[in-house]
Amino acid sequence: MILDWKEVAGKIYEDIKNKINTLEKKPWLWVILVWNSPASLSYISQKEKWAKYVGLNFYLTKLNEDISQDKLEKEIIKFNEDKKISWFIVQLPLPKHINEQKIINLINPAKDVDWFTKENIWKLFLWDNSGLISCTPKWIKRLLEQYNISLVWKNVVIIWRSNIVGKPLSMLFINEWATVTVCNSKTRNIKEYTIIADIVVSAVGKPNIVTKDMINPWSIIIDVWFNKINWKIMWDCDFESLQGENYITPVPGGVWPMTVAMLIENTYLAFLRN
Ligand code: GUN
Repeated sequence: MILDWKEVAGKIYEDIKNKINTLEKKPWLWVILVWNSPASLSYISQKEKWAKYVGLNFYLTKLNEDISQDKLEKEIIKFNEDKKISWFIVQLPLPKHINEQKIINLINPAKDVDWFTKENIWKLFLWDNSGLISCTPKWIKRLLEQYNISLVWKNVVIIWRSNIVGKPLSMLFINEWATVTVCNSKTRNIKEYTIIADIVVSAVGKPNIVTKDMINPWSIIIDVWFNKINWKIMWDCDFESLQGENYITPVPGGVWPMTVAMLIENTYLAFLRN
């Protein structure tokens, strides 16, 4: 069975659109783009489309891909100090010559609707619900809620320990009473863990890293990441063989519908808190 996120995202947009309609002042969503990768451009066009649809003001600042670390840091400081800009995000990934984490940590935490900065991300660790939640962990939890899939007592395996998916997602799930295992590239035999998992989340970007022989018929499979191999988009999970018995996220269909919906929701919530 397919976990249909398009329908879930659609409901979120309608709800926010109705709420924004009643506001006198419209919230802004400001995006900084440095690396014009096809994935980032497609993400941004969706962010723009849906931001405008719900009634947010949208603005995109495109910087030169060759920008130096120093100049990019100065740009971020300008955004931090500009009183007109309430929130902004820096579209990731950044070009290889840029120290991405340094850029993220420079963002004023009060303007960080991605919830990536160190001042914001620790809140998940300390069970502090006063803030937002970053978009990918948030949509995974929301999608499960929409299908009445509780995390209590569930064995969850997350494949990959990144700062924007694996680590925050593990914290979010631990807070919801799941038993969580986070695998990484040095995990000896990932199948040992996935075969007993109720929920498997894969966010590696390595084609077919999750195959049918690694999964139980009752497991729920959330595929978060893909890679382009010979111009073909290849997802982590072998969707063809896995679909059927298992609950699984759709391919094709991308992850953007839910990620974008969560960013728009975060922007609206940040506006309310201001
Ligand atoms: N690139 C892929 N997903 C995201 C996201 O959620 N936020 C940002 N800033 N960049 C991304």
